[in-house]
Amino acid sequence: MMLKGKIAVVTGAGRGIGREIALLMARHGAQVVVNDYGGSAAGSGAESAPADEVVSEITKAGGKATANYDSVASMAGGQAIIKKAVDTFGRVDIVVNNAGILRDRMIFNMTEEEWDAVINTHLKGSFAVTRAAAPLMREQKWGRIINMTSTSGLIGNVGQANYAAAKLGIFGLTKATALDMGRYNVTANCISPFAWTRMIGTIPTSTEAQQARVEKIKKMSPAHIAPLAAFLASDAAQNVSGQIFGVRGKEIMLFGHHRPVTRIHHAEGWTVERLAEIFPGTLQHHLVPLETSGQYFNYDPLV
Ligand SMILES: NC(=O)c1ccc[n+]([C@@H]2O[C@H](COP(=O)([O-])OP(=O)(O)OC[C@H]3O[C@@H](n4cnc5c(N)ncnc54)[C@H](O)[C@@H]3O)[C@@H](O)[C@H]2O)c1
Repeated sequence: MMLKGKIAVVTGAGRGIGREIALLMARHGAQVVVNDYGGSAAGSGAESAPADEVVSEITKAGGKATANYDSVASMAGGQAIIKKAVDTFGRVDIVVNNAGILRDRMIFNMTEEEWDAVINTHLKGSFAVTRAAAPLMREQKWGRIINMTSTSGLIGNVGQANYAAAKLGIFGLTKATALDMGRYNVTANCISPFAWTRMIGTIPTSTEAQQARVEKIKKMSPAHIAPLAAFLASDAAQNVSGQIFGVRGKEIMLFGHHRPVTRIHHAEGWTVERLAEIFPGTLQHHLVPLETSGQYFNYDPLV
């Protein structure tokens, strides 16, 4: 029982990774707000069933949970989700910003609607829920924020400009949150998961590379992500903040952060011509290969 007495909010917990995190946190004694707006894969409609089913699974197993159906994608939604935790359980200790959608399209075809839908759900949604919880965590001097990033942003992917921008933005949000909240005993970390869920089922598989990537992901269960999330939410992870972890089947990874890897300096300063002359023998050697997440993680997962 690593989370006994803690109050957790998990967004997008009606399915996939969020559902597994909500179930495991409840098994570890947390009282859970299961948020999910129950959207269809295409983004239309809203239903309460996914969140309700997870709540009933938790209560049947002897845990405590309540459902919330607000969308994370507005400030009002974020406030309502956190209010549900406070009204039902009196407090909020843990926030897992997990709700997500995909609207994949090549950059030259992506619409404003597809851009906004993904940025609003992932990036603004993570901000909206965190913004509602942060004053309460600051006041009680304890809190855990866990945000879902993706190797689509950290490494790269084709056809995901909106999603990659949102997910790398989430890392910036996490780092800033960790720095702002550190003095109040509140940590913020990112998880970059790999798991076969409905969301991955919406990735187009028209090219061979896309098919190969999705076939690999099919082998990975969302249940593998939950232990790391529950650990980061526990007292045991007090000194872990501002970090990015990856979970791929039975493998857990720690990602590096952006730092200069090399420097060049010229006593007279740089001209375009001088740069063109010196670049190939210096910075060029340290360029990061332009590749997709699937190309980088080209080995089979341990499942
Ligand atoms: N599955 C993977 O391999 C993978 C890889 C990288 C990142 N992620 C991230 O993990 C998180 C969970 O993804 P998943 O694969 O479990 O997807 P999923 O589609 O199975 O679950 C996401 C849930 O979020 C809910 N949701 C969507 N928009 C919402 C909103 N505005 N408000 C409230 N709920 C909303 C959906 O109804 C759905 O139940 C996402 O943030 C995703 O970007 C997943």
